[in-house]
Amino acid sequence: MEEFGELLGNLIIFLFILEAFRFLLKRVFVYYGKWIKTNTKFHPLLLKSMKMNQLFHPWLGYLILVTIIVHAYIQTSGFAFLSNTGLIAAAFMGAEVLVGFVGTYLMKKPRPSYWIWIHRLIPVLTLIAILIHKD
Ligand code: HEM
Ligand code: HEM
Repeated sequence: MEEFGELLGNLIIFLFILEAFRFLLKRVFVYYGKWIKTNTKFHPLLLKSMKMNQLFHPWLGYLILVTIIVHAYIQTSGFAFLSNTGLIAAAFMGAEVLVGFVGTYLMKKPRPSYWIWIHRLIPVLTLIAILIHKD
C-alpha cells in the first residue's frame, strides 16, 4: 500500500508538469504559430492541441487535488499523522486551482493582468514546496 502511495506522489508531480505545460504550448503558439503555419503542415495539430489543452486544463487541476487527498490518506495511514511539507505543497496547489477557478468562472473578461502573473507564480512556489517535500 505504501508503494501505491509513493506512486501517487509521483503521479501528482507528473500531472502537475502536464498542467504547467500549458505555458510552453502557449509560447509556441504565440511566437512560432505563424512560422509553423507557413512552413509546416502541423498547424491544425497545434490548434487541436491548444483546444484540447484548454478543455482539460481545469479538470486536470481538480484531478490533481483528488490525487493529493488519496496520496496523503495512504501515506499517513488514514491521516493518523500529518506531513508539514506535504501540507504546504498541497496548500500551494489548492491555491493555484482556486486562482484558476476564480479567473475562469468568476472574473469578468478581460481578466486584470495581475491574474495571470499570480497563476504563473504559484506553480513556481508549488514546485519548490514539492521538491522539499519529496526530498
Ligand atoms: C503537492 C502535493 C504532494 C506531492 C506532489 C507529494 C509527493 C510525494 C512524493 C513524490 C513522495 C515520495 C515518494 C517516494 O518516496 O518516492 C511523498 C511522500 C510522502 N508524502 Fe507526499 N506529496 C504531496 C502532498 C502530501 C500531503 C498533503 C501529505 C500529508 C498530509 C503527504 C504525505 C506524505 C508522506 C507521509 C510521505 C512519506 C514520508 C515522507 O517522505 O515525508 N504528501 N509525497
Ligand atoms: C495545479 C493546477 C494548475 C496549474 C499548475 C496551472 C498552470 C497554468 C499555466 C502555466 C498557465 C499558462 C500561463 C501563461 O499563459 O503564461 C495557465 C493558464 C490558465 N489556467 Fe491554469 N493551472 C492550474 C489550474 C487551473 C484551473 C483549475 C483552472 C480553471 C478552473 C485554470 C485556468 C487557467 C486559465 C483560464 C488560464 C489562461 C488561459 C489563457 O489565457 O490561455 N488553471 N495555467
